[in-house]
Amino acid sequence: MDVVDEMLEACAQNLQEAQKINPWLNTNFVELRKGDALNLPVQDASVDVAAQNCLFNIFKTEELKKALQEMYRVLKPGGRLVMSDPICEQEMNEELRNNDHLRALCLSGSIPLNDYIKALTDVGFGTIEIRARRPYRILDTENYPTSENIFIESVEVCAIKDPMPADGACVFTGKAAIFYGKDDFFDDGKGHTLFKNQPLAICDKTALALAKLNRTDIFISESTFHYNGGGCC
Ligand SMILES: C[S@@+](CC[C@H](N)C(=O)[O-])C[C@H]1O[C@@H](n2cnc3c(N)ncnc32)[C@H](O)[C@@H]1O
Repeated sequence: MDVVDEMLEACAQNLQEAQKINPWLNTNFVELRKGDALNLPVQDASVDVAAQNCLFNIFKTEELKKALQEMYRVLKPGGRLVMSDPICEQEMNEELRNNDHLRALCLSGSIPLNDYIKALTDVGFGTIEIRARRPYRILDTENYPTSENIFIESVEVCAIKDPMPADGACVFTGKAAIFYGKDDFFDDGKGHTLFKNQPLAICDKTALALAKLNRTDIFISESTFHYNGGGCC
């Protein structure tokens, strides 16, 4: 789906090209539709998996909220929103922020990862998986209106329309816990069993709860931002 006719035409041409060089691709299964991400022409709770790449970072706060609400609306319960976008942990000055051209190039609309995650949990997604995080671009002082070089990364994120847990969303950022005590396993009594020297992927909530136990026989890793399933919740 795209709101711009020229982009839909370019996509149609690229699909034909892709079909020629990929024997497995059958474009009969693909429908291109004109539509606005802020007002999706799609029924409620009708989609298994939605995806977007490098669009939502272009949106400012209120538009981003609306676009995510739309995605949440059209997904079935348990449906997944898979996205990739640039993120940036440094302050982006107003001149960069308000430069429409740089926003459209997926550069100066980038926000910090935690803000990106919060935007997803605020609309109701109960599980968030950070699947990849990679270096992306530098906005340097020679070529951009900035007094310091700005490092931009890109992330792949999956937001699942699970019910929101009472204590907040489960956010998997690639942390793992390893129990290395005397027993064969450790059970926290809250549904998490750590078998001796077997890493268990844990969400950030579980990581915090385990850390608060102050045990000397449980190691909790830093976030790798490469979560690939099998988590605690
Ligand atoms: C930076 S491009 C990314 C396109 C594509 N994902 C790719 O990687 O090539 C952003 C795309 O979003 C489209 N777009 C912008 N605003 C939109 C909106 N409100 N609804 C739907 N599409 C929109 C633009 O026309 C453009 O094709």
